[in-house]
Amino acid sequence: MKTEFRTTSPFPDQKPGTSGLRKKVKVFRQPNYLENFVQSVFDALGDAAGKTLVLGGDGRYFNREALQIIVKIAAANGVGRLLIGQGGLLSTPAASCVIRKHKAHGGFILSASHNPGGPDEDFGIKYNVTNGGPAPEAFTNAVYARSREITEYRIANVPDIDLDRLGEIKVGEMAVSIIDPVSDYAALMEHLFDFKLISSSLKSGSITLCFDSMHAITGPYARRILEDELGAAAGSVINAEPLEDFGGGHPDPNLVHAHELAELMYSAKSPSLGAASDGDGDRNMIMGDHFFVTPSDSLAVLAANIHLLPGYHDGLRGVARSMPTSQAVDRVARAMGIECYETPTGWKFFGNLLDDRKITLCGEESFGTGSDHVREKDGLWAVLCWLNLIAVRKQSVADIVREHWRRFGRDFYSRHDYEGVETSVAEGIMAHLREQLPGLPGKQFGEYTVSYADDFRYEDPVDGSISEKQGVRIGFENGSRMVFRLSGTGTEGATLRIYLERYERDPALHGQDTQETLSELIALAETLSEAKRRSGMAKPTVIT
Ligand code: G1P
Ligand code: ZN
Repeated sequence: MKTEFRTTSPFPDQKPGTSGLRKKVKVFRQPNYLENFVQSVFDALGDAAGKTLVLGGDGRYFNREALQIIVKIAAANGVGRLLIGQGGLLSTPAASCVIRKHKAHGGFILSASHNPGGPDEDFGIKYNVTNGGPAPEAFTNAVYARSREITEYRIANVPDIDLDRLGEIKVGEMAVSIIDPVSDYAALMEHLFDFKLISSSLKSGSITLCFDSMHAITGPYARRILEDELGAAAGSVINAEPLEDFGGGHPDPNLVHAHELAELMYSAKSPSLGAASDGDGDRNMIMGDHFFVTPSDSLAVLAANIHLLPGYHDGLRGVARSMPTSQAVDRVARAMGIECYETPTGWKFFGNLLDDRKITLCGEESFGTGSDHVREKDGLWAVLCWLNLIAVRKQSVADIVREHWRRFGRDFYSRHDYEGVETSVAEGIMAHLREQLPGLPGKQFGEYTVSYADDFRYEDPVDGSISEKQGVRIGFENGSRMVFRLSGTGTEGATLRIYLERYERDPALHGQDTQETLSELIALAETLSEAKRRSGMAKPTVIT
């Protein structure tokens, strides 16, 4: 094998965001762009010689091309072995599972998650570490620093490999195993859930199911697990064929983008459980017959019930949620006498808490839920949790959630996104909010009195690392809250996210409309942020 040392010069924009490096495909296709980033990861890793790495992606446009490049750079950097999902495919949670199971040193995951795919759309790459989770900030900062000074990368001058044939091959000295992308993950799921019970409920028809794969990575996983292994009726998994452009849609599981599923769930033909996952399989949306479960509620309900599922019979050590996620899970943790941690947005912040066995379950309002079984959020896992739960409790999704609200109260919750805002305008909005913070506590706005106002700062309880400026929080004396932050995953302009929540103890009021219940808070968010006025947008682009 001939190793080439190619001269290159740094790109200024290779700073990983909330979840790795995400850019337009066109950016990634610039000569040396991907190569620089991958070599920067190897340089930051130090010695990769002889180590095992995992490689796979969500199958979007440019996935295969990128994989071939990474294989060659890995070989030139002395990697001992690569485990690659057949066809270059691995869902994000499956990649995490494979890294852990095979005790790999880490892995590259190629995905831009829920962002659209295609020649004019998005691509992404991130490095996960030995625990199977996203690299911590110290590492991504080191990669970025390296990318700013890189002058050369190493690449093996070898032909492309066959990504589709299962088995062992060699690239120079490096061993490459093309593995079935589903098997290890499916085995883990079987260990966590009561497959016998779920299967008998599905086969008898007492539970019916529709899972929308949105033409993304979960198609093969959901077909194998839900239809082949558990016996859900053929066709229960829809849009199951992974496509490079996701069929032209946004592979984002929410009521807007998973509209085919949403229509079915609000029709007379609704199955008992409706669910969807995103481009790389880590997000989930849960629905019941004429019922939408907010991700924050889903996390809280799972916290209160997960001990009913075989993998979790010992109960929870603790729970965690990202800061903007509603406080519903906090109430459950208090009732159970366990700790609830509040972390910055992004799954990487859960890694230490999971590794240190401080928590078992964690989640984010952005349709992300997961547990200590892997170190990524896990869409299909969440669906299996709910399937198992409705089978054990023999209740509908809606009844389980309503009963939960009666016991703990309801946190009405919504996120309003303003996408494609000019970066300077978005930064201006955040600066304007930050200026007001010191003067807000004690101020009264209608029935809302501010109890605290700050810019969220997180001190990791395990390694003591500090993350500053993680979003503006304004809390009120009645337990309501609003949070403002800028997205770290977008690829065009800026996205302002406004998170709103209001707590309601009285069950008589639990059936109210969410946006109406939040209307006063929504208006107050505008008064404080001037988001509409400054952006010139009449309303949010997405409401979830
Ligand atoms: C978004 C979500 C965040 C999630 C991330 C990756 O990040 O808000 O919760 O972890 O995608 O899926 P953001 O664009 O807000 O930075
Ligand atoms: Zn995702």
